[in-house]
Amino acid sequence: MQLKTVLLLALVTQGLALDNGLLLTPPMGWLAWERFRCNIDCEEDPKNCISEWLFMEMADRLAQDGWRDRGYTYLNIDDCWIGGRDDEGNLVPDAKRFPHGIAYLADYVHSLGLKLGIYEDLGNYTCMGYPGTTLDRVVQDARTFARWKVDMLKLDGCFSTPLERAHGYPKMAAALNATGHPIAFSCSWPAYEGGLPPQVNYTLLAEVCNLWRNYDDIQDSWRSVLSVLDWFVEHQDLLQPVAGPGHWNDPDMLLIGNFGLSFEEAQSQMALWTVLAAPLFMSTDLRTISPRDMDILQNPLMIKIHQDPLGIQGRRILKEKSHIEVYMRPLSSGASALVFFSRRTDMPYRYQSSLARLNFTSSLVYEAQNVYTGDIISGLRDETNFTVVVNPSGVVMWYLYPTKDLETPWQ
Ligand SMILES: *[C@@H]1O[C@H](CO)[C@@H](O)[C@H](O)[C@H]1NC(C)=O
Ligand SMILES: *[C@@H]1O[C@H](CO)[C@@H](O)[C@H](O)[C@H]1NC(C)=O
Ligand SMILES: *[C@@H]1O[C@H](CO)[C@@H](O)[C@H](O)[C@H]1NC(C)=O
Ligand SMILES: *[C@@H]1O[C@H](CO)[C@@H](O)[C@H](O)[C@H]1NC(C)=O
Ligand SMILES: *[C@@H]1O[C@H](CO)[C@@H](O)[C@H](O)[C@H]1NC(C)=O
Repeated sequence: MQLKTVLLLALVTQGLALDNGLLLTPPMGWLAWERFRCNIDCEEDPKNCISEWLFMEMADRLAQDGWRDRGYTYLNIDDCWIGGRDDEGNLVPDAKRFPHGIAYLADYVHSLGLKLGIYEDLGNYTCMGYPGTTLDRVVQDARTFARWKVDMLKLDGCFSTPLERAHGYPKMAAALNATGHPIAFSCSWPAYEGGLPPQVNYTLLAEVCNLWRNYDDIQDSWRSVLSVLDWFVEHQDLLQPVAGPGHWNDPDMLLIGNFGLSFEEAQSQMALWTVLAAPLFMSTDLRTISPRDMDILQNPLMIKIHQDPLGIQGRRILKEKSHIEVYMRPLSSGASALVFFSRRTDMPYRYQSSLARLNFTSSLVYEAQNVYTGDIISGLRDETNFTVVVNPSGVVMWYLYPTKDLETPWQ
């Protein structure tokens, strides 16, 4: 891949993007859905039901356990919070589960230095059957969210037609803008149209949405992670160029901390999502998460790579017969992130390669820092052979940066 071309594309798409100044790097935070779903049984399961109490608990954890300070600032509500509409047609939350209202929750979240995200659905109902935002309600609901000082809206697409979505998503973007309150806009629109042209116009999406779900919902299994990854890789020539500051592809939430992934698989999802410049929305119980999973999610070098200001989405650059794949994301200051990913199911594999094989052809000498172990590999020239040992369904991830230029040794 030509770095110059990638940079040019990034600049071109940036010029056309949704102009609300938000999410110039991919968002990080917590989203309720994957772990807590539509559990509304606060009688039997008060600690885990969708309620203001659950969100306040997660807000406390985000603020107190290092998450916020590492960049996980969004606390996002998903489906099943709505109680109905009042006499004037304004959305109201479920009175039993959100007795103090959403504005109160937003104030609480803001007092901790966090941001609040909310969920609605463009259509007759939300996916779980709560009142949706029909076309005639778009402006009213945008005003409600702004009045509550909500910071992000995820707008789902159940119970609507393609034509209604084609009108409704741009209409909501305009309505959010008209409130004057900055609200990041997450669109599920392309996922409902199959994620591909001609049904999906990614140029238009980048003008309307800050992030968008392209594909199926993630579920708590490695199989699900692979099916999402496979789809994004299969269509990377289409998807990679449309991401950039303010507008991101969203392969859905991180499963880390839940039940479906091994330690290696958790490290892999984190590394791959980071290289894809994907939003990092955890969806796990932050009250009980293990130190090992916290280390994966709070890895400072990982987050530095994720938040790289160029905002270039990476891609798979190599697929070996050995079932090792190499992913690369170009970063600022001539650095890059490399992920060596094993699809093997036997044993740790000794993968030998060189930067030349990965198309780094320059006179530079590089150094690599292993993102998970911290080990430094120095003196890498393009022809230097190196070996990385990659565990089954695991990764080795490198932060690679030039140290000196052989052609100008005096520098
Ligand atoms: C939404 O509701 C209207 C009015 O009941 C109905 O005509 C329309 O078919 C519904 N749309 C969808 C996509 O279910
Ligand atoms: C609304 O859009 C204009 C440009 O089209 C932008 O300058 C402004 O910041 C936006 N405002 C909000 C609140 O998104
Ligand atoms: C996609 O949307 C862009 C921006 O609105 C528009 O200029 C372009 O014509 C659209 N492309 C297609 C194939 O419809
Ligand atoms: C290296 O570049 C060649 C020629 O452009 C291309 O065919 C090949 O796929 C590239 N390999 C990698 C690993 O990027
Ligand atoms: C690197 O390995 C390749 C293939 O094993 C070999 O042909 C080449 O000579 C090695 N290069 C160096 C610089 O050792």
